[in-house]
Order: sequence, then C-alpha cells, then structure tokens
Amino acid sequence: MDLTTTYLGFDLPHPIIAGASPLSRYLDRVRQLEDAGIAMITLHSLFEEQLINEELATNAAIDDSGEQYAEALSYFPTPPDFAVGPDEYLDMVRKVKDAVAVPVVGSLNGITRGGWLRYAALIEQAGADALELNTYNLVTDSDENAWTVEREMIEMVRAIKAQITIPLSVKLSPFYTALPNLAKELALAGADGLVLFNRFYQPDIDVEELEVNRLSLSDSTELLLRLHWTAILAGQVNASLAITGGVHSALDLVKSVMVGAHAVQLVSAILKQGPRHVTDLRLELISWLEQHEYHSLRQMQGSMSLRRCPDPKAYERANYIHMLQSYQVE
Ligand SMILES: Cc1cc2nc3c(=O)[nH]c(=O)nc-3n(C[C@H](O)[C@H](O)[C@H](O)COP(=O)(O)O)c2cc1C
Repeated sequence: MDLTTTYLGFDLPHPIIAGASPLSRYLDRVRQLEDAGIAMITLHSLFEEQLINEELATNAAIDDSGEQYAEALSYFPTPPDFAVGPDEYLDMVRKVKDAVAVPVVGSLNGITRGGWLRYAALIEQAGADALELNTYNLVTDSDENAWTVEREMIEMVRAIKAQITIPLSVKLSPFYTALPNLAKELALAGADGLVLFNRFYQPDIDVEELEVNRLSLSDSTELLLRLHWTAILAGQVNASLAITGGVHSALDLVKSVMVGAHAVQLVSAILKQGPRHVTDLRLELISWLEQHEYHSLRQMQGSMSLRRCPDPKAYERANYIHMLQSYQVE
C-alpha cells in the first residue's frame, strides 16, 4: 500500500509524525520512535521567555549595577521552569540529528518579534531539517486587538523566513475570527505549513485546594475541531497542513487525511501507549485502506475537504442551523 505523503516539501513514507513533546529530550526514546517507523520527529520548544530571560541575565552579569534588569527579569519565568537552556537545546538538535535518519524539526515558541528569533538560524545551523513556530498566545489585555496580534504573527514568519533556508511551519491556536484569511496571510509571508491546533490548556479549578489543575493528555474527542478547520483550509491555502491534537486511532488518522491533512502529529497517543503504537497505527491504516479498496493514501487525501466533499454545507453555517432545528425532543 502506498502511504506516501508530502509535508513541508519532504516526501514521507507515511503521514505519522511525532509532535513536539519532552520525548525528544531522551535519545533512547527518539531512537525507539524511529525503530517504530515514525516519519518525522518534532522537538520540544525553545520559548521566547526563556531566550529573553537568558539575554537579560547575561546583560545583568555584564553590567554590575544590574538593577534595571531585575524588574524586567521578574516578568519572565525563572530559568528552573525550563527543562533545557538554549545551548543545551542546540546540542539536543545536533544529538537527535546524529541519532536518527528521519527529518528532525526544531521548535520555537513565542509571540513577538525580537532578538530571540535569531535562534531560528541557530537551530538550522545545528542541523534541523525544518522549524515549527508555535504561536500560542493568550491575550488578557482588553486594549490589545486581534489585528495587532495577527500582524505580529505574520511579521514573525517574515522575519524568520529571512534568516533560514529550511521549511517553516506555524502551529496555530484554534480561536481566530477569520482563520482562512490568517492562514492565507501566513502562507504569503512564507509559512510552508500550518499545524492545527495547539491544545487550549484550560485550567480546571480544585475548589478544595484552591489550585488550578495539571496538564492532562488528549483523547480522540479533541480531533473534531481540527477536522473541521482542516477541511475548510485544505485546498484554500498554499501550505502543507498537519493535524495535532486528538489523533489516537487509525480511524482518527483516516479522518485527518480525508479532510486534507498531509501529516498527523502524535504526542498523547505515544506518551500513553509507547512508540510501538506508531507501528500498530501504520499497519491498521494499511488494513483499513485495503478493506476500503484504496490504492494509495493520496487517493483519499482531501476527499472530505470543504472543496471536495459531496455535501460542503456540512462544514458551513447551514449545517449549524440544520442541527439545531432538526433535534427531536423525546
Ligand atoms: C507533556 C507535553 C509537552 C509538550 N511540549 C510542547 C512543546 O514544547 N512545544 C509545542 O509546540 N507543543 C508541546 N506540546 C503539545 C503537543 O505537541 C501537541 O500539540 C498536543 O499535545 C496535542 O497533541 P496530542 O493530542 O497528540 O497530545 C506538549 C504536549 C505535552 C503533552
């Protein structure tokens, strides 16, 4: 069965790739992922806050009086919040590249332009085959408007593209007023791919301990939001599309490809079930395609996108109205 797909310009043997996660910090896990047949590996992120922090700390060390930096430093998480520093990150890129033959994607995570973006070029020099820019933003200031936030994202893409020659993908959050337009502008600014979506980490509240709870892993219910928007963007935007969030089973994979994904990123599924899950998923995908008489994965790629599916209304407002109106009260 031909499972090949093209993502960010790479011809991959199949669409299953590892999303950004702490797994990339452990070389044995990275090798296990390759042994299990993963097509590409995304490293965990280097964060803007971390890089600015490092820069401020260096400046404070150079300038004895240092006080002007003390206040600025207090805005950012303290270094122990980050698992690895910038130099260790670049070292990790080199080591992972040496350890595996599959393409390796570095990850930068931030929301504003600045000197920290020079790490894009450093990650490329360290050997990364591509770069993912994660733009997870949480606007809490009522004076900050949507256009300012989106323009900054677009300009970040332009700034990074000016420094690197490897492909760049942008990992987006799900909530924008007009996502197709933003996606188009990001592609025009140079994004080679879009990764849909960041999980929106919504803290639940422990009312006894007065704490917010910890990160939980995903399940397949989170996939639906990604399927809907991938279906809408497929064929409309000149960029590769990857789904991250809620891909666990072979059927999740089939649905993702049908709506137009060129690749799917797994994190929770691998953390829960181990790297072997990648092998199982690939075999189950082959068997599903055979049973349904497909000759290749590309044959079904995008067949359920908004542009190509038999009933495009299913993705539009008309379906929302229909669903609300057709509910039968027992
Ligand atoms: C423990 C953990 C660490 C993660 N670290 C990163 C990270 O450094 N950068 C990033 O872009 N995403 C990170 N993610 C998000 C994942 O890449 C992924 O987008 C998300 O978990 C949804 O995919 P899933 O349903 O397959 O888990 C992390 C997720 C988990 C669970």
